[in-house]
Amino acid sequence: MDKYVIEGGRKLCGTVVLQAAKNSVLPLLAASILTEKRVVIRDTPPITDVLCMAQILRELGAEVSFSGGNAVIESADASCHKISSVLTGELRSSVFMLGSLLTRFRRAIIAYPGGCDIGLRPIDLHLNALKRLGVVISEREGCIHCACERLRGAEILLDFPSVGATENILLAAVKAEGRTVITGAAKEPEIVDLQNFLNAMGAKVAGAGTDVIEIEGVGELSGVNYRPIRDRIEAGTFLIACAVCGGEVETAGLRADDLRLLLHKLRENGCKIHAKNDKIRIESSGMLKCNRRIETMPFPGFPTDLQAQATALNAGAEGCSLIVENLFETRFKYVPELQKMGADIEVKDRHAFVRGVKRLHGASVVAGDLRGGAALVIAALGAEGRTEVLDLSHIDRGYADFRGKLKRLGAEIKRVRV
Ligand code: UD1
Repeated sequence: MDKYVIEGGRKLCGTVVLQAAKNSVLPLLAASILTEKRVVIRDTPPITDVLCMAQILRELGAEVSFSGGNAVIESADASCHKISSVLTGELRSSVFMLGSLLTRFRRAIIAYPGGCDIGLRPIDLHLNALKRLGVVISEREGCIHCACERLRGAEILLDFPSVGATENILLAAVKAEGRTVITGAAKEPEIVDLQNFLNAMGAKVAGAGTDVIEIEGVGELSGVNYRPIRDRIEAGTFLIACAVCGGEVETAGLRADDLRLLLHKLRENGCKIHAKNDKIRIESSGMLKCNRRIETMPFPGFPTDLQAQATALNAGAEGCSLIVENLFETRFKYVPELQKMGADIEVKDRHAFVRGVKRLHGASVVAGDLRGGAALVIAALGAEGRTEVLDLSHIDRGYADFRGKLKRLGAEIKRVRV
């Protein structure tokens, strides 16, 4: 198991070329089996979640290769509709496979999905929506069994704008008979990306990015060569890191609109933000004021996937702040690790009360989940002295070449085999 050894206190300067969005690439990989033709997803980052999804596709009988940074999927010979618990246990996004498998085979069996341990993460919205499309579902021995004679379009109302459920419905409805209308859909940029990808394959999907999405089922889908959107959570992580360390960092490939709330909060911290076309630049003195309140919300609200990083920022800023986590029940598990670095944070249910301290100090900490791990790295970069961040397996799920990108900005960070 590897660890990072980080010497805090270096300013960060330079440009970050962003990876393709993890949360786009995963559903696009799931969508790749909707056709028997070749699918190319360009600049696919070699993060472990992607590698795990590729393994799932191989288990189904697809050929997946990575060449020149692109993922190439040939699924003409795919014939299996069952995903084993070994793989679904590692990756929650395996749940998207339900929609794709049903479209392709009319049947699907998957073990209950895994992923980060950040709360209950039920999948009732996914399953209820699939039932509306005509799928019969039963649960036996830890597996979800789905089957249908044919998929029929339907009106589906989501009580909560679940990202995964919206994506799963798109994947199940794209070749269903007739028209499907999702009301209360998630509006994340990754949903728009999935719509664009499906339409490039010949689907008829409209409305993504709003809360009503309409899908007109089509007969066949063609192959596609597609470049996904850039990763707004990776961008946010680097912008927050620069805010904490001081310096000047530019991200390339993402429009400010996709990170509007974060940029607003960083201005509140005292940072200067300049955004033009697909470039976002931050200038920070490293002397930050706390945000009074940050509350996570579905898009376009403050992203839950940047909550931990923002808490790390506030832990070393001047003043007090309240961080409210509305999406996942237990997404403050990284807080005891930040406390080892001197952070003054009290957690009560979904609230964290942060009293900013002048400066955090180095410690030995464990990255227990993906974004919590990124928050510990950010805290370490700004802290006084040396920090060891142990267990990089979660960070590797979402950030490609995290160390290399930080090092090129001037951070002192080593990756060491333990
Ligand atoms: C996706 C993202 C994840 C992000 C999250 C919220 C991917 C691969 N992952 O996860 O990084 O943190 O969106 O922006 O894109 N819920 C239910 N029943 C369901 C489905 C969801 O109650 O059937 C609840 C969840 O428990 C959670 C909330 O809805 O409290 C949000 O979940 P959802 O939007 O579905 O997130 P994911 O798709 O799992």
